Amino acid sequence: MTQEAIRSTVVPIIYLLSTVLFIFGIKRLSKVRTARQGNTLAAVGMLLAIIGALLELGSVDYRWIAGGMALGAIIGAVFAIRVQMTAMPEMVALFNGFGGIASALVAVEGGASGTVYETIGAYESITVMLSILVGGVTFTGSIVALMKLQGSLKNGQPILLPARHFLTFGLLFASAVFGVLAVSAMGPGSILWVSLLTGGALILGILLTIPIGGADMPVVVSLLNSYSGVAASMAGFVIGNPVLIIGGAMVGAAGLILTQIMCVAMNRSLLNVLIGGFGVADGAGGGGSDEYTTVTSCGPEEAAMILENAESVIIIPGYGLAVAQAQHAVRELADLLKARGTKVTYGIHPVAGRMPGHMNVLLAEADVPYEELLEMDVINPEFKNTDAVIILGANDVVNPAATKDPSSPIAGMPILNAHEARSVFVVKRSLSPGYAGIKNELFEYDNTMMIFGDAKKVLQDLIAEVKDL
Ligand code: TAP
Repeated sequence: MTQEAIRSTVVPIIYLLSTVLFIFGIKRLSKVRTARQGNTLAAVGMLLAIIGALLELGSVDYRWIAGGMALGAIIGAVFAIRVQMTAMPEMVALFNGFGGIASALVAVEGGASGTVYETIGAYESITVMLSILVGGVTFTGSIVALMKLQGSLKNGQPILLPARHFLTFGLLFASAVFGVLAVSAMGPGSILWVSLLTGGALILGILLTIPIGGADMPVVVSLLNSYSGVAASMAGFVIGNPVLIIGGAMVGAAGLILTQIMCVAMNRSLLNVLIGGFGVADGAGGGGSDEYTTVTSCGPEEAAMILENAESVIIIPGYGLAVAQAQHAVRELADLLKARGTKVTYGIHPVAGRMPGHMNVLLAEADVPYEELLEMDVINPEFKNTDAVIILGANDVVNPAATKDPSSPIAGMPILNAHEARSVFVVKRSLSPGYAGIKNELFEYDNTMMIFGDAKKVLQDLIAEVKDL
């Protein structure tokens, strides 16, 4: 078969197959039960896309490509195996950053050398500039997001520069002008404007991300994920690769939808997140005082006695469960209770933890049956008929102030109505606040008992007590 025949018949079929796999993969990712399969399908789709692109290129030095792929695979595998569940948002941020810079570099090469203008027209050349702009913003924005999540940049606090909105919009406008000038120069003369645009995009990524606090970083990471898709899609136009255009557009759309879901679950507008300064201007604590007055605490023995008589128990996992790596212990306790005839379910808040689906993935790791994981809307009517709720390292997602105190920074955020149950056990190490940095009045409710300690240790003690019953 000639190279031309491969290009015109085999490659389009491979690209079509790859696109179909991407679509089915993303569809399957929307359900916990099928997510793993979805991931595999999309990965096979990506492999086909790479094979298609290599066949399209024809005679290339495969040693360089194989070397690059092997190196990337080793680095990726080492990171993926070693990363802690709680550090997943950082890893996703890094991936987005790499994706953004890869797209930007492809566009910079084509745009600065002028080669790209020989193959695409002036109108399409805009995509080269957009790829540089969006890819550059994604790269530095993701690095800032990573540092904020780690707390290594001003402890994750918002950094509010004077005249920051003026600076940001000024630089955005200047970058747009550089892009137009690069397209007008159309050739080797574009190098100066492309360099200025690249510098502008990199600074813009920093300016856009530093005013946003660490608490909002998961939303920003999701948005940057969308940007990395847009940058890849634009890079697809630069190199004339349809599957890159389609795949990038799908990532762009999926990231945007996820961002919207997270904003709705926190009752914040995207603009409110992006303008930044949450928790600084609002002042943590909302209306009331941050001091706790009447808090009741108990030990595992007392809790086990109440659980002994409970017919129904709802477990609410939060960020602290991930920190304590208590997913296997919670499953063991649930199994013990179920063996005694207790109905056990899990209430999963959409923003419990630090990234979408965090709790589902964590509990799936411990083989908690999917059908026991109930989403907020499904489980909320159940609380008033429930004997006991065990809250494990969750805080903001069960804070009644969200529905009762209009001056609270989390006012309007939908919560799990744990306070409506007959008995509520809150397992955490202290009375420290959660991510929103505010007091939780649930801890003072008459039906609430705090069990202070690390979630895993407390669960192990509870398991021992329940076994002794
Ligand atoms: P948080 O409100 O952050 O509370 C977690 C609690 O876990 C803390 O109060 C902490 O209290 C406790 N904890 C930490 N380590 C622990 C350990 N080893 N053992 C026991 N407890 C431990 O968590 P949440 O209720 O899951 O809420 C999530 C927050 O993140 C929300 O504010 C949400 O808006 C925000 N957020 C989430 C997302 C996504 S998509 N998940 C995105 C953006 C923002 P102690 O220090 O006293 O132990």
